[in-house]
Amino acid sequence: MPPLLMEAENLTVTYGSYAALKKVNFSVFEGEIVAIVGPNGAGKTTFLETVAGLLKPKEGSLKFRDRNITKLEPFQRRKMGLMLIPQEGNLFPSMPVKENLQLGAFFENKRSTEEILNRVYRIFPKLQDRTRQLAGTLSGGEQRMLAIGMGIAANVKALMIDELSLGLAPKVVGNLLSILRDLRDETGITLILSEQSIKALDVADRVYGLEAGEIRFTEDAQQLDRDLIKSLYLGA
Ligand SMILES: Nc1ncnc2c1ncn2[C@@H]1O[C@H](COP(=O)(O)OP(=O)(O)O)[C@@H](O)[C@H]1O
Ligand SMILES: [Mg+2]
Repeated sequence: MPPLLMEAENLTVTYGSYAALKKVNFSVFEGEIVAIVGPNGAGKTTFLETVAGLLKPKEGSLKFRDRNITKLEPFQRRKMGLMLIPQEGNLFPSMPVKENLQLGAFFENKRSTEEILNRVYRIFPKLQDRTRQLAGTLSGGEQRMLAIGMGIAANVKALMIDELSLGLAPKVVGNLLSILRDLRDETGITLILSEQSIKALDVADRVYGLEAGEIRFTEDAQQLDRDLIKSLYLGA
């Protein structure tokens, strides 16, 4: 069993008096691909933003790489190798593709920027054809590729992607997912993907079902009972 990389214990997050997450327990092992599935409003974004440090929990704790990070600021978590690609944004729309990727590589000091960019271009050749194009003028799918490319350029330990498939054609989603799996196989990166659709199950090792701020189940993705998924989305 690989070592534990990230762990949330009894995590409760509130907006005013509304509890968007209720005593959530969650763990990810090094090199794992974990999917968080659940209907709109389940608390997926709230969870990822809390792990990234953008929201502070009311109760509970977060551990990353054997360190208690509950009180750390987002940039401190980022420096430890934990990065969130939000549902939208994360790009500098008025800057060219290449500059966006260079910013992504900002914290990476082991390899040269050129080496890093070449790696991203190998994964997303489309971005290489458009290095001078302003990020804001890319199509939705290309912007998502660029946002993920920035995460790859950053050479992080764990990449969290909120709603990977949002606004993308099914074929593009399939491609992105297999690219991410190859990336994990090649580099050992840990991936936490949130998804409203169940497409992410195709590449995940393990799945968490989240509904109304509570974890309903944790399952090995290959053994997942389809009825569990149905009940999650139909509220049965
Ligand atoms: N800034 C906010 N203020 C108040 N309620 C919020 C806020 N953001 C999210 N919520 C509520 O918290 C719940 C979980 O939202 P969210 O984490 O965005 O779910 P998901 O990403 O699974 O769709 C929803 O009921 C949502 O309306
Ligand atoms: Mg969301």
